[in-house]
Amino acid sequence: MGDDETGHGFDHIQRVVGLADRISQSYPAADHLETLTAAYLHDVIDEKLVTDTAAASAEVKQFLVDQGFTTAQITAIFLIMDNMSYHKTLDGTAKPLPLEGQIVQDADRLDAIGAIGIARAIYFGGHFGEKIYDPAVQPRTAMTHAEYRNLNHETIINHFYEKLLTLKDLMNTAAAKQIAEHRQQVMLDYLAEYKAEWNAEA
Ligand code: ADP
Ligand code: NI
Repeated sequence: MGDDETGHGFDHIQRVVGLADRISQSYPAADHLETLTAAYLHDVIDEKLVTDTAAASAEVKQFLVDQGFTTAQITAIFLIMDNMSYHKTLDGTAKPLPLEGQIVQDADRLDAIGAIGIARAIYFGGHFGEKIYDPAVQPRTAMTHAEYRNLNHETIINHFYEKLLTLKDLMNTAAAKQIAEHRQQVMLDYLAEYKAEWNAEA
């Protein structure tokens, strides 16, 4: 993750771990070791970051065995990592997440919104050659997984409408929803200001 240039570097991981830890304080029943381990490892086996996800998963499993994790713990951690990603929800293939997974998914989504979310979306869009904004291109709705990953007509500003602004209402936990409220307003203010400046109105 140290070499990542798409906004999924180790700093992203550290924020997700920090947010998962913070949300967990409201849910003492959640297994803390499983929550934080899944938070640390969640992007290591992700399709957008590794080409061979099966090989990456096998490597992570062996790593956890070497660290002394039990088979039950490894199964629980992989259930989270295999089903928390946004694209899984688009295809309807995601299995329901246990409380630990709901916390990690919320933490990952919180890092996609707010001031950091704005920076990451611009960084990601720049990396993949997206236009910043084009008022002639309408945001897409009800995308399939393939459409979501097709960046040919994607713009960075449209990504807010297609995904980032929807995340607040997709939060699983009340603790994350509360954090998301402020971050949502930061994005809405940013978009309003962006368009006002675009139109020479601000
Ligand atoms: P997940 O990790 O839940 O599967 P993604 O990998 O699709 O989600 O996206 C992770 C982050 O990468 C997004 O929250 C956003 O910051 C950025 N991102 C993804 N797709 C785009 C896009 N088309 N334009 C700009 N940023 C994007
Ligand atoms: Ni992530």
